[in-house]
Amino acid sequence: MFDVNHEQELSKRRTFAIISHPDAGKTTITEKMLLFGKAIHVSGTIKGRGSGKYAKSDWMNIEKERGISVTTSVMQFTYKNILMNLLDTPGHQDFSEDTYRILTAVDCCLVIIDAAKGVEERTKKLIDVTRIHNTPIITFINKLDRDSREPIEILDEIEKELKLNCIPVSWPMSCGKNFKGVYHIYDKIVDLYKYKFFKKNFLNLDSCSDNLIDDYIGTDLAVHVRQELELITNIYPKFNKEKFLRGIITPIFFGSALGNFGINHVLDSLIKWAPSPLYRQSDKRKVNPQEKKFTGFIFKIQANMDLKHRDRIAFMRIVSGQYTKGMKLKHVRIKKNINISDAFTFLAGDRISINKAYPGDVIGLHNHGTIKIGDTFTQGEEIKFIGIPSFAPEIFRLIYLKNPLKQKQLKKGLVQLSEEGTVQVFRPILNNNLILGAIGILQFDVVIERLRLEYSIDAVYKKVNIILARWIKSDNHHSIYNFKKKYSTYLAYDTSNSLIYLAPSIANLNIVMTQNSDIFFDKTREQ
Ligand code: G4P
Repeated sequence: MFDVNHEQELSKRRTFAIISHPDAGKTTITEKMLLFGKAIHVSGTIKGRGSGKYAKSDWMNIEKERGISVTTSVMQFTYKNILMNLLDTPGHQDFSEDTYRILTAVDCCLVIIDAAKGVEERTKKLIDVTRIHNTPIITFINKLDRDSREPIEILDEIEKELKLNCIPVSWPMSCGKNFKGVYHIYDKIVDLYKYKFFKKNFLNLDSCSDNLIDDYIGTDLAVHVRQELELITNIYPKFNKEKFLRGIITPIFFGSALGNFGINHVLDSLIKWAPSPLYRQSDKRKVNPQEKKFTGFIFKIQANMDLKHRDRIAFMRIVSGQYTKGMKLKHVRIKKNINISDAFTFLAGDRISINKAYPGDVIGLHNHGTIKIGDTFTQGEEIKFIGIPSFAPEIFRLIYLKNPLKQKQLKKGLVQLSEEGTVQVFRPILNNNLILGAIGILQFDVVIERLRLEYSIDAVYKKVNIILARWIKSDNHHSIYNFKKKYSTYLAYDTSNSLIYLAPSIANLNIVMTQNSDIFFDKTREQ
C-alpha cells in the first residue's frame, strides 16, 4: 500500500560513501560536509586526519580509536532538508574487506581524485567493487589550489582506468597559485575561489562568454577558459540521469576540499541526482523500500571497546518498512524472533538510541555473537539478501601458535573473527595449516592482538607463498572432483566449506584457468 509519509521519508534520504586513494582528501571533504550539515562544529572533530596512519606498533591506539571509529562509521547530516547517510570507508592502513563491503550497502559513491596525481591504484580497486551493483558515481577532482595536471588529461585517465564516461559539470579556472575558481556549466555560475579578494563570491551569467568574467579573472585566462569550455562541450555529452543511475557516466566537479570550495556543488548533485534508497535483491525476490514490512541486512560488524563483554556492534542497512523501538524482528538465519529494544544511530560523534528509522538508514545493534555479516532481518518472511559478498583476499599469512596445545581455541577464535569480517581463514586440503587472508595488511596484527586479548591465545604469523585466491565453482560435479585431485596442493576450504584456489603467482592462476575452462574462478563469494 502506498503511504505518503513513508514516501516522503524515502525521498528525503541519500545513502552514500566516499572513496579515494589515501591522501586524496576524503577526511577533509567528510569534515567539510559535516560542517555544511552542522553535524560537527569544529574541523578536526572526526576521526584523526588520515585516520589509520598508524605505525604497526601503535596497534593499541587503533583499539582506543575503535570507540571513536564506531561512531564515525556512519555519519548523518542534513543538507537542504535532505538526510544524508554517509558511510565511512576505512582507508590507509585500516583498509580492509569492510571497505569493500560497505560499498555494497550504499546507493551512490563519491570518488575523490587528487588533481596532481590522477587515478590511483586503490581508487581502481574500489570502483571495481561498485560494479557489483552498478552504483552511480559522482567524481570530485580535488586540490585545485595546488599545481595540477591538465583537467582533460585527468578526464581521459578516468575514462580509461575507471571505465566511466565523464560529464564535466564544473570546470576549473587555472590551478595552484593562479586558481581563480570554477565555472558551473549547467547553472551558468562562476564560483570565485578566495572571494574576499573579489567584490563578490559568484557571478550569475547568461553564458561563459559574458565579459563580466574578464573583470574578475583577467582577459587572458577568460579567453583560455572559454576555449576549453567550447572544446569540452563538443567532446563530452550532456548529463543523462538514466545513464548515471546505471553507473555508466560520472558527473565531474572540481575544487579544493581544504579551501571548502566546490563541495556545495557535489552536495547539490547528491540531492538532485543521487537516488533515494534503492531496492535490494534477495534470494527469492526484489525488496522495494516502499514495502511496509521491515527488512534489513548486516554489512559490517565491529568489535567494541568493552573487551570484558566481548561486545560487538552489527551495522544494519534498512531495506524496507520502518524500524520502531522495541519491534520484534526475525533473525532469518537462526530462525529466531528477537526484540530490538536498543538500536542506535550515530550523530555528532555520539551513539543515540533511536525510536524510528527508514530505508537507507543504518542502525547499530548490540551483537553478542549471534549476528554474522550478510544476515537478514525481517518481520517473518524467509528471505536472504544477496550481494553482500566475501571478497577474495589480496594478502596471505600462515598463522601458528606459540603453544600448540591451544589449536582448538585458535580455530574457534579465528572462526568468530572471520564471521565478523576481520579476516578470512583457509584450511588447505593437504595439511593442517591455517592460512589467513585479508585485504589490508593491518588486519593480521588486529587478529593476533584480538586473539591475545579476547581468547588468551598467543599466535604469530609469517609469510606464505600465496598471492591470489579464487573461489572454485562448476555446474559439473565431475569437473570439480577431477580439479580437486589434480590441484590439491593449491586448494583449501574457507570457514563456510567453500573450495578456494590459493595461487602462488598470477602466471600460475592464468595457466590453471586456461586449462580448466569448465571451472569458474570467482573473486567474490556470497555469504
Ligand atoms: P584522506 O582522508 O583521503 O587520506 O586525505 P586527507 O583529507 O587526510 O588529506 C590528505 C592531505 O591532503 C592533508 O594534508 C590535507 O590537508 C591535504 N588536502 C586535502 N584536501 C586538500 C586541498 O583541497 N588542497 C590542499 N592543498 N591540500 C588538501 P596533510 O599535510 O597530510 O595533513 P594536515 O597536516 O593538513 O592535517
